[in-house]
Order: sequence, then structure tokens, then C-alpha cells
Amino acid sequence: MTDIPHLPFNDGNSIPQVGFGIWKVPPEIAADAVASALKTGYRLIDGAYLYMNEAGLGEGLRRSGLPREEVFVTTKVWNNEHGATKARASVERSLKTIGLDRLDLVLIHWPVPSQDLYVETWKAFIEMRDEGLMRSIGVSNFNVDHLERIIGETGEVPVLNQIECHPRLAQPELRAANARHGIVTQAWTPLGQGQTFEAEAVASAARRAGKSPAQVVLRWHIQNGTAVIPRSVNPARQAENLDLFDFDLTEAEMAAIAALDVGVRTGPDPSVFKML
Ligand SMILES: NC(=O)c1ccc[n+]([C@@H]2O[C@H](COP(=O)([O-])OP(=O)(O)OC[C@H]3O[C@@H](n4cnc5c(N)ncnc54)[C@H](OP(=O)(O)O)[C@@H]3O)[C@@H](O)[C@H]2O)c1
Repeated sequence: MTDIPHLPFNDGNSIPQVGFGIWKVPPEIAADAVASALKTGYRLIDGAYLYMNEAGLGEGLRRSGLPREEVFVTTKVWNNEHGATKARASVERSLKTIGLDRLDLVLIHWPVPSQDLYVETWKAFIEMRDEGLMRSIGVSNFNVDHLERIIGETGEVPVLNQIECHPRLAQPELRAANARHGIVTQAWTPLGQGQTFEAEAVASAARRAGKSPAQVVLRWHIQNGTAVIPRSVNPARQAENLDLFDFDLTEAEMAAIAALDVGVRTGPDPSVFKML
């Protein structure tokens, strides 16, 4: 079974560099998908209240029979539950729904600058972490100005920033800002909806390494020091997406893939996104 490297957090904890994302995994198959991923070797499940499958996450975890401390569980607080009281209620509900007494990581899902509550939410996260509801606290979809505001107002640096990142949206400046602050970058939609699978930079590296285009794209993230959480409900692809540690991309291949960056998102822009 693959030995998945961990990336260190700035709070002394660490996270597996590859995890299993469960956005859009229907609730009725979430337990099977999570159990299958854990059987394949994943040790990180990336969930969120929004995904409506936290019960399945917990069921899959229990079904795997793995000791609790061997699996890293992330969830997120959604946009309409910012603010101290609602954020606490959200975390307590996730704990209950998943069936855990402590989460490994909780993220603010989006900053939603228009409601101007993310600093208050962050302060609540610090308190809940100190009380032991979660081991580590982080953010998602935070731009540099959002990061610098919470750090400036609380002195508390998130351990991780989960952002949209793939070859067409490589986010070099935001990744560098995360690194400057000691924040792990974790890529969502790391495969970029497969939009670069046929690009010559990806296809030729795949042919040379004897790997699939998906593995080449995931390996590009790994060599950039980014954590990834690919999603698949297909057990063969789950295994493929974890099989990333027996080959290297050359410097030229890394640069050719980086050159596919056109700054185009598949998802919303965090500076204005406010779906509640
Ligand atoms: N924080 C946020 O705002 C945010 C936003 C979006 C996502 N996320 C997180 O990031 C995770 C991953 O993002 P994602 O689900 O959008 O996208 P993704 O993992 O980049 O791609 C998933 C899609 O690619 C297909 N796929 C998976 N492995 C493949 C392979 N080896 N070859 C070809 N196709 C493959 C899957 O189909 P099959 O299932 O049919 O294999 C699925 O359609 C989510 O599950 C969620 O946990 C977070």
C-alpha cells in the first residue's frame, strides 16, 4: 500500500499530501465511497457540511475498521453559518453527524467578504480549537487580503488554505503567499475537470512516464509541494489517483505544465462569491 507523505502544519500537526474529496458524492453512496477509498489506502477524507454526506463519511470511517487516529477528517463551515454562534453550532453539528468527538481540521469554506464576518468566524475557530473540538484550523478560498486580515487581527495563522488550483489556474502568487506565511496549499478540483489531459505538456509526460494524464497532473501538484484531494467514485481511479510516488516529472515537464496556466477558474471568484 502506498505510503503517503505528510506535509507539516505550522501548529505541529501534519496532513497527508493526498486525500479523498467527497463533494458531489451522493449521500446514499458516500459510506461505500469512503470505505472503498480507505481500503485503497487514503487516510484523509475532505468533507464539508455543504456536501450533505457527512453521515456517510462517518459510516464509511466506522466500516473501514481503521483506528480513529489513522484517518484525517476535514470538514468546513458554510457561508450562511459565519459568526461566532452559528460557526460553533455548525462544528458541533458536523461532529455529531459524522460521529466523532474531535475533527482533525475545520475550514472556513469561503470568506464571503460582502458579509464581513470571516474575522469573527476565525476568532470562534481559535476558541473551538483551544477547547479541543478540532486539532487544527484553516481556511478555504482565501485570497491574500483575506489571509492577511485574519492574521493581522488575531495573530493566528491558518494551517492550510484550500484553493482552486490546477494547470489552467496554477495560482503561483497565492501559493507563494501561503508558503511565506507557513500555510499549506491544498488544491481543490486538482484535475481541473480534465481540461488539460490532452494538452501536449501533459500527454507527452504521461507517455514518457508510463502514467495516465490524471497522474501527471496530480504529480505536478505534489512536486509543487501542494496537497491534493481528488474525487472519484470509481475504485480503479481512486487507486490511480494515489499511485503518484514511483515517478518524477522532469524540470522541463514541470515548466511545460506550469505554462498551461491561463488564470481561468472552473468555480466562483472568492472576492465576490456569496451564495448563502
Ligand atoms: N473548498 C472548496 O470550495 C471546494 C470546491 C470544490 C471542490 N472541493 C474539494 O475538492 C475535491 C476535488 O475536487 P472536484 O471533486 O471538484 O474535482 P476533481 O477531483 O479534480 O475531479 C473529479 C472528477 O474527475 C473525475 N476523475 C477522477 N479521477 C480521475 C482519473 N484518474 N481520470 C479521469 N477522470 C477522473 C471524476 O469522475 P469519476 O468519479 O467518474 O471517476 C470526477 O468527475 C472535492 O471532492 C471537494 O472535497 C472544495
